[in-house]
Amino acid sequence: MSEIRAYGSSSASSSKSAPKRIRVRHFNRAKREGLKITGLTSYDYLSASVFDRAGIDFMLVGDSAGNTVFGYETTLPVTVDELIPLASAVARGAQRALVVADLPFGSYESGPLEALHTATRFMKEAGVHAVKLEGGVRVAEQTRRIVESGIPVMGHVGFTPQSEHGLGGHVIQGRGDDGIQQLLADAKAIEDAGAFAIVLEMVPSDAAKAVTEALNIPTLSVGAGPHCDGQLLVWTDWAGFTTGRIPRFVKQYAQIGQALEDAARAFQEDVQSGAYPSSEHEYE
Ligand code: KIV
Repeated sequence: MSEIRAYGSSSASSSKSAPKRIRVRHFNRAKREGLKITGLTSYDYLSASVFDRAGIDFMLVGDSAGNTVFGYETTLPVTVDELIPLASAVARGAQRALVVADLPFGSYESGPLEALHTATRFMKEAGVHAVKLEGGVRVAEQTRRIVESGIPVMGHVGFTPQSEHGLGGHVIQGRGDDGIQQLLADAKAIEDAGAFAIVLEMVPSDAAKAVTEALNIPTLSVGAGPHCDGQLLVWTDWAGFTTGRIPRFVKQYAQIGQALEDAARAFQEDVQSGAYPSSEHEYE
């Protein structure tokens, strides 16, 4: 099977025993062998179980939960205490996928020890397998300290939502020669610090290609085009659950929001008309 899913169970959906876990070494092997990696965000047990059964390789408990779960306008307000219960639920739902927790804004910037403390909480209290933090050169020391203590780190460069005010909004990064050089320097600093993979968010495809070719670790695209080693999407965007503006790079594979709204409307009407509950739903 020419997919990274072969590294876990070869029959993840049919095997009676628990499938084998995807490990960080599989990410590097996938890059060497030219196999594409797939990731989705997840914030709860049920969605994690579904994505796991479908063969998604890793799940990110993103700080996008700030928007999707808690309804904040940006990811900035979400806290470690809010994310840990979500990460713990996802870790219970994912039998095979590698589970990565995002370190939220304000939980790692002040230095390597703060970063290590937060990463350790996610490993111990949520049972995730890796953590992700945003930034390039400026968080290289944090990345190195976490990796040195045995915790795998996923990097994140390009557009970094926690810095959206500093970046002047949702602006594509890595444009022009200077932009590509900056992106390369940031990505290289994170690779040198020991990260096992790196997210490239909202960068032009040619810049993402240059970074992907320059690194030994896999690049994971969030709106960074087809040349990356894998693709990651926010599940609520991908499944048509998010309301409002959806970024151009998202392909919607379902319309869950509309399906739920239709179902809720039908339920409301059935209760009003007396069509629900009917005799099949009653206890004798
Ligand atoms: O929080 C998140 O969902 C993310 C992805 C967009 C990469 O960081």
